[in-house]
Order: sequence, then structure tokens, then C-alpha cells
Amino acid sequence: MTTARSQTGTGENLAETFSEYVPSVEARDIVSIKPRYGLLIGGEEREPLQGGAFATIEPSSGDHLAEISEGTQADVDEAVAAARGAFEAGWRDLAPRVRAKYIFRLARLIQDRARELAVLESIDGGKPIRESRDIDIPLSAAHFFYHAGWADKLEYAVPGMRTAPLGVMGQIIPWNFPVLMAAWKMAPALACGNTVVLKPAETTSLTALLLGEIVQEADLPPGVLNIVTGAGETGAALAAHPGVDKVAFTGSTAVGKKIARQVAGTGRRLTLELGGKGAHVVFDDAALDQAIEGIVDAIFFNQGHVCCAGSRLLVQEGIADHLLGRLKQRMELLRVGDPLDKNTDVGAINSHAQLQRITEFVEGAESEGCAIHQSGAPLPERGFWFRPTLVTGLGGSERIAREEVFGPVLTVQTFRTEAEAVAKANATRYGLSAGVWTEKGSRILWMTQRLKAGVVWANTFNQFDAASPFGGVRESGFGREGGRQGLEEYLQLEPAAK
Ligand code: NAI
Ligand code: MG
Repeated sequence: MTTARSQTGTGENLAETFSEYVPSVEARDIVSIKPRYGLLIGGEEREPLQGGAFATIEPSSGDHLAEISEGTQADVDEAVAAARGAFEAGWRDLAPRVRAKYIFRLARLIQDRARELAVLESIDGGKPIRESRDIDIPLSAAHFFYHAGWADKLEYAVPGMRTAPLGVMGQIIPWNFPVLMAAWKMAPALACGNTVVLKPAETTSLTALLLGEIVQEADLPPGVLNIVTGAGETGAALAAHPGVDKVAFTGSTAVGKKIARQVAGTGRRLTLELGGKGAHVVFDDAALDQAIEGIVDAIFFNQGHVCCAGSRLLVQEGIADHLLGRLKQRMELLRVGDPLDKNTDVGAINSHAQLQRITEFVEGAESEGCAIHQSGAPLPERGFWFRPTLVTGLGGSERIAREEVFGPVLTVQTFRTEAEAVAKANATRYGLSAGVWTEKGSRILWMTQRLKAGVVWANTFNQFDAASPFGGVRESGFGREGGRQGLEEYLQLEPAAK
């Protein structure tokens, strides 16, 4: 994994900024976790109206970390009202260059507090510190910088159109990239002059709440960002709220469909970034050393809790045995364990529920006749862990071949021809990501035109950049995040007067 990451552009360049930071066992001393957290509404930390709370735990130990407020309908009402108030009181009318200054300040403060954000992200969510430190937090800051730059140039983002903000944005995010998904949603929303009610995922609220604190520190007007913590019911209350002008959701396809039904016919806007079952196609002419690092990165990065993970490996028949042998050797080198150890490759599974889901998938595959291979990595005694896993001997109709596992589990199938590779890659209801490894440029173009996926990577995987739009087709959702296209999702557009 180290090698795969060090080949990548974005992560490493951004990481240089943080190179003085060497986390250690004492890393946890740089964060302070309160026993209990309120909601952020109208610039104030408030107790939830019905007083409910739930625990967030540390997945690498199972230990209790803090009590998080359970927001209900009444809290969502207040948060939406606060966001509406801030929108109408001036955020929407602010000179764009002033709005830009606020967002630049926010971006700088995220950099200033990057260590704290990274350590807290790894404690509450289980991901390796190397990833939160070098990827999640730098990319989050980059997202705010990028969108701050657009704030006073929106007329150039959508030429020929007059732009206006939409209003109050209801944003519901998952637990796999808690800060980064908040950044992907908040940065364009704010840059376009909207205000936000954010609902973090229930297992990973702490960094969103820290981000709320940073927004306060950046002195954004009260009510521009509101955070209502809670689980699915809280999210459903936000998605259904008539005062929310747009719902932006990232999470499972099942919940995305529910939200689409709630929003249908209301005239409110919606973008959905849902599950994936990314095909990762390796041709027999591929540069094998790099391809193996790419395969490892594509499925074991962030424990495979990645919507665009390369979770279905398709290998050309002639190299399949050799490649699998090499891949198995490489998997033995992956260290599974303490997320705060900078040598860790695979951290903790985010929750007990997710560990159960992954386990069921793999046990199910075995009972459907697949062969399972797992690395021999020693696992810590406490907490939630799953070894890097390969599943072979698939027919293609097994549950594990069709549904998103969202764990460190790679299915492997072979193909003979390009046409067969495309057919197998597209044999899914999802369409978020795909990858192709080949030395032939023409073949890359041929494949990219045929693969049904929002993002196709060639001779690399999991590359992200704020300037590059990200999103799915088919049951992976609709709408784009990032780039010029992502801005349009947060704007009302009218033809400009000639
Ligand atoms: P989920 O879709 O239930 O959770 C994502 C977010 O939606 C959380 O903030 C949650 O509180 C919220 N939510 C849940 N029910 C809601 C509702 N009815 N209305 C509005 N918001 C609601 O995903 P979950 O249960 O955490 O994970 C289950 C599976 O979903 C995973 O195993 C994985 O396959 C998939 N998943 C995919 C993600 C992706 O980015 N592709 C992200 C998270 C989960
Ligand atoms: Mg947690």
C-alpha cells in the first residue's frame, strides 16, 4: 500500500505540507474528546430538544468515546430555520469575494488543525492515520481552497447563465470519509451562497463536530452551517423537510432510493452518491508490479469502505495464476491493526454492524461454493477487524459478486477478450468507478467508451482531485461533486440577459 500511495500524485504532494507530522502512540494526546456533544444550531451548541443521546465508540478497541446528541424532527426544524435565517439575513447577498474570504479562512484553519482532525478521524472511524493524515484531511482542505476560488467567479463556471444560490441544503453523509464527505458537500454549497444543515453518520460524528467548531473559529455568520447529529431517523427528517431546497446524500443505494421517493414531486433538488461495485480490469500486457500495487490500493485502502473501490478484479486468463500468486504474497505484507500506528495498512472495520455484514458476505460466498483466501495477518484481540480477503471460483450470480461488500474483500474473475471484459465489468446494477491496466493507449480509450461508470481510472486507481467531477451512473446515483460540474448542483441557473 505504501508503494501504491507514493506513486500517486495528489495525496503525496499534499502530504508534503504535513511531513513534519509523525504520529505516535502519544498522538491521541493532541485531541480532546468531551464526554458529551450537543448540536450546532444557529452558531450555538445546543442540547437536543428531546434530550436523547447515543454513544460513539472507537472501533479499534470497542471503547466508549463520547455521547452524541440524537437530533429529532424538532431539532431539524430549528436547524433548518436557522439556516434559512442565515441565508436570508445576508449570506446569499454577501459580496462573492467576501464569501470567498470566509471559505479561504476555513480552508487555512483546517490545515492548521490538520493533526487534530486526522487523529480524531482515525480514533472515531478506525482508518489508518497515514490515510487520514496524507489523504482525507489534505484533500478536505484542498476542496475548500478550490471552491473558495470559485466563489467570486461563478459566472465563468457556467458561461451564458445567471447564477443564484438555491437556499438551504440538507446534507447527509456516510462514515467512510467523515471529514472529506463533509468537505465535498459543504465547500461547493457555501461557495455558491447556500446555507447548510449537515447530518453526519452516527458512528463518526466527532470530526464533523470539530469541523463545526472550526467554522465557528473562522467566524462564519451563525446559522450558515448547522449540524444535527443522529442516525437514520434524523437523516430522514432532514431529507423530508419542506424547508430544505436541496438534499445531497452519500450512502447506501437502499437509503438513496428511499430519499428519492421522499423528494419526488416536491420540486426540491436532489443529488445521490450511492454504492458501487467497481470493476478493475487487468490485461496481460499490464505493468504487473504497478498493477498489483493498484489492485491492493483499490480494495484495501480504507478497509475497503470505499464507494468507488475496485472490488471486482477481472484478470486476463493468461496471467491470472501468476498475478494471483503475486497478489497473495503482497497481501501478506499488509499490516492490520492500530489505526494510530503510522505503519498500519489496514485499520479497524468501522462498526460491529459492518463487521457482521462483511462476515456474512464472505461466509455466504463460501456456502455458495466460492474459494476464500485470507492473509495471515495477526489481528488485535479487541476491536473490529477483518483480514484482507480474496474470493475466487465465482460464477457471477453469487451475492458477493453482485452486491457492495464495503470491506477488504476482493472478488476475482477471469476474461479472455476485451469484449468479455467489458461485458463482465458492466454486469452490475451499479456504475460508479472502474479501472483498466494495459500498456495500449488505444485499448484504454476503447474500454473507457464502453465501461458504464462515472469514473474510469487507467493504470492507476483511487485518484481524487477537487477540480475533477466525481459521481455515478445507474444505481450508483446521479449528480457530480467537484469541478465545475459540481458547482452547478448548488446553483439556480437562468439564461443571462444578452
Ligand atoms: P446508510 O446509507 O444507512 O448510511 C449513510 C447515511 O445515511 C448515515 O448518515 C445514516 O444515518 C443516514 N441514513 C440512514 N437511513 C436514512 C434515511 N432513511 N434517510 C436519510 N438518511 C438516512 O449506510 P449504512 O447502514 O451505514 O451502511 C450499510 C451499507 O451501505 C454498507 O455496508 C455499504 O455497502 C453501504 N454504504 C455505502 C456508502 C457509499 O459511499 N457507497 C457509504 C455508506 C454505506
Ligand atoms: Mg465511532
